[in-house]
Amino acid sequence: MKINFPLYTAFMVSLFVLTGCGQSDYRPESTASGEQMFAQACSGCHGEGGQGRFGFLLTIAGTEHPADKVATKILEGGLIMPEFVQLTEEQRLEIANYLKP
Ligand code: HEC
Repeated sequence: MKINFPLYTAFMVSLFVLTGCGQSDYRPESTASGEQMFAQACSGCHGEGGQGRFGFLLTIAGTEHPADKVATKILEGGLIMPEFVQLTEEQRLEIANYLKP
């Protein structure tokens, strides 16, 4: 069987886009605060201030996870959540600390 590579590639790319897994191309300004980065990169899914976008489902404000765990989550993403490999550890910790109570 012959594989149609352009079609195959297009299919895989759309699969990635649809499922959301993959990398975010978000690039913050170097002076951005944790709050600003969250508003720009995360609130689309996690809601304003982390209150959750889809009911309480994606609420992460006041998370009980330690900041370094949240920072790792930002780095690695999830099944649906994109990974933010371009953020520095400092930036990821800043976002994490913004979410902490
Ligand atoms: C495309 C939507 C989307 C974006 C953008 C997104 N997330 Fe998520 N996030 C999710 C989903 C869905 C989950 C739960 C399932 C999973 O891990 O994919 C999640 C899970 C998490 C968790 C784990 C919550 C827990 O209680 O275990 C944390 C922490 C988190 N996100 C923080 C962030 C931060 C910080 C950002 C911005 C840098 C961000 N997310 C951007 C969709 C998103």
